[in-house]
Amino acid sequence: MKVAFASSEVFPFAKTGGLGDVTGALPKYLHKLGIDVKVFLPKYAVIDHSKYNLDYSYPIGEMPIRLAGTTHQVRVFHSYLPGSQVEVYFIDCPHYYHRKHIYTNDADEDERFILFNKAVIESLQRLNWKPDVINCADWQTGLLPLYIKDNYSWDRFFDQTATIMTIHNVGYQGRFPKETVHKAEIRPELFFENSPIEIWGSVSFLKAGLMYADAINTVSETYAREITTSEYGEGLEGVLRYRINDFQGILNGVDYTVWNPETDKFIPAKYSIESMEEKRMNKKYLLETVKMKYDPDIPLVGIVSRLVAQKGFDLIVKSIYDLMNMNLQWAILGSGADEYENLFRSLSYAYPDKVFSYIGFHDELSHLIEAGADIFLMPSRYEPCGLNQIYSLKYGTVPVVHKTGGLADTVQDWHEYFARGEMSGTGFSFEHYLPSALVSTMHRAAGVYRDRETWGRIMYNGMIKDFSWEASARKYIDLYHKAIYNHRFR
Ligand code: ADP
Ligand code: GLC
Repeated sequence: MKVAFASSEVFPFAKTGGLGDVTGALPKYLHKLGIDVKVFLPKYAVIDHSKYNLDYSYPIGEMPIRLAGTTHQVRVFHSYLPGSQVEVYFIDCPHYYHRKHIYTNDADEDERFILFNKAVIESLQRLNWKPDVINCADWQTGLLPLYIKDNYSWDRFFDQTATIMTIHNVGYQGRFPKETVHKAEIRPELFFENSPIEIWGSVSFLKAGLMYADAINTVSETYAREITTSEYGEGLEGVLRYRINDFQGILNGVDYTVWNPETDKFIPAKYSIESMEEKRMNKKYLLETVKMKYDPDIPLVGIVSRLVAQKGFDLIVKSIYDLMNMNLQWAILGSGADEYENLFRSLSYAYPDKVFSYIGFHDELSHLIEAGADIFLMPSRYEPCGLNQIYSLKYGTVPVVHKTGGLADTVQDWHEYFARGEMSGTGFSFEHYLPSALVSTMHRAAGVYRDRETWGRIMYNGMIKDFSWEASARKYIDLYHKAIYNHRFR
């Protein structure tokens, strides 16, 4: 089976969050299961050309791509996902991609991804490589299913090509004004109230993907259920209910070649389930590095996150007084909304012995915090899957989470499982999205931390969990078969 992946992020080349982790890993595991995979990504300015040995792709050559009345010369570069034979194609169009950030608020953000969607299709034609499935990720690739079924349907080459729309976050829908219909060369008659590409008066790339794809999935089972409701569906719940027979949740896996405390190249003291006590050397190192006092009796709380409301920072803001009054230390890494960046900056200024914060993106530090912290806090309002809590389990860093989406599917509350007569809890969770629930759960966690034996048991329970990609990759293959069936026989 041949599968093309199109994504706006692929680790290690370009990443702002978990999407990059997923598209940098899943293709490798599919390849191990015998799937022929190629990955497509825009060639942003941040991608280090020489570090990854990018070659010009002669089979593709120069492609003229028309967009909004202008023809752009697009070139394609080629490399491999590190440690694998999975080919990655980088769509190069300096006008659109040589900017400071991967995503922008520029007025032509729609054009940047229209061009990407077209270029993926035209690269496939020029490579003469006919995929059985194109797996799209999020709104940035949402036009592909529509293009394959409509704009490029003249090309019999794609007759047998099915499309999958994977939702990594329904909160981002690629909504643009009506003029985008023209720029994207979508037939104008496809745009009307409640049409397959329209939501609340705007064009939505994600909605187009959901309506035209042969099958749809998202990244955890609980989130799949949640987004068919108006509370979580962000207006697309009706579409998902309409497509319910073609829609499922598949939990993300973890690339344990990157996230494993036994082999992690960024942490000074490697450790495993047999040598859990070594973990404290990382805590010591982290605290010394950031000039905070090391005290084994004070739990260190880690946060690594995009600083956006989705991640539960409004709860943290509302409970900050109570949290700062607890005997905890904090190591916070993130970037995003000014409000939260400023809060964490000022906290580390006001409480230098208690709070360390780094505002920005820092891959190495994210590993160090995973290894050094005792507790990992992730109180997301909603969470499609979430990867950091799963990394935390492997690092023996006990997660405290809001019980939603993928957080509910991966973290078992210690007290709840204890009450059920099991000792299988792996973290602490709270059901109601309220500041008081967050604070009392932090108190529960800090209380248990004092009981070293129990804490060790919770760490152990998390560290033995296996969220490797193999099982999920098999589910993706089943989904591909389903999409192929839908495409050919319905
Ligand atoms: P999301 O995709 O919603 O941001 P996930 O938990 O799925 O959330 O994935 C987040 C990924 O991005 C993790 O690999 C995490 O380590 C990484 N990450 C987030 N913020 C930063 C940051 N400031 N510096 C380094 N890595 C970060
Ligand atoms: C999104 C979601 C996150 C998920 C990631 C990878 O960014 O917010 O929950 O883990 O995609 O699927």
